[in-house]
Amino acid sequence: SAEVKLAVFGRAGVGKSALVVRFLTKRFIWEYDPTLESTYRHQANIDDEVVSMEILDTAGQEDMLQREGHMRWGDGFIIVYDITDRGSFEDVVPLKNLLEEVKKPKNLTLVLVGNKADLEHARQVSTEEGERLAAELSCAFYECSACTGEGCISEPFHELCREVRRR
Ligand code: GTP
Ligand code: MG
Repeated sequence: SAEVKLAVFGRAGVGKSALVVRFLTKRFIWEYDPTLESTYRHQANIDDEVVSMEILDTAGQEDMLQREGHMRWGDGFIIVYDITDRGSFEDVVPLKNLLEEVKKPKNLTLVLVGNKADLEHARQVSTEEGERLAAELSCAFYECSACTGEGCISEPFHELCREVRRR
C-alpha cells in the first residue's frame, strides 16, 4: 500500500486542527487550543488503492526552524486560510514561497483551502479571490467549513494523495 506524508500549514487559528479532526472523526472542536504539533495516521481507499496517510497538523505559532523541518518532511501540503481573516489569506504566498525554497518546485504538491465558509456574514476573502490565487499557484482549491462539514472535507486530503501518487 502507498504511504503519503501530508502537512497542514496556515496562520494560527485558521482551523487546521479543526479540519484534520473533522476529516478523521467527523466531529467539530469548538474550543481553540493552540496546537503544539500533532501527527495522525489514517488509511483510506482512494481510487481503489489503499493509501496510508501520515498527517502532520502544524502549529501556526511554530518557528522558522520547525517550519522548514516540517516542510522537508512532507510529500504534500495543505495551506489553509480563514475566509474571515484577510491576513491569513495574505500569509499563503509567503508560505508557498518558503515551500518552494525548501522543496524543489517540481516536488511541490499542494492544495489551497479557504476554511470557515459557514461564517458568510464575516467573509473578508471572496471565493473568486481564492480561485484566482489557486490558479496562480497552479493548485486545487476548496472552500469548506470544518464546523458544518460543508464543502467535502475529505476532498483536499484525498486529492493531495492522488497528486503525490501521480508525481
Ligand atoms: P493553531 O493550532 O494555533 O495553529 O490554530 P488552528 O489553525 O489549528 O485552529 P483551530 O483548528 O484550533 O481553530 C481555531 C478556532 O476556530 C477554534 O475555536 C475552532 O472551533 C474555530 N474554527 C475552526 N474551523 C472553523 C469553521 O470552519 N467554522 C467556524 N465557525 N469556526 C471554526
Ligand atoms: Mg491547531
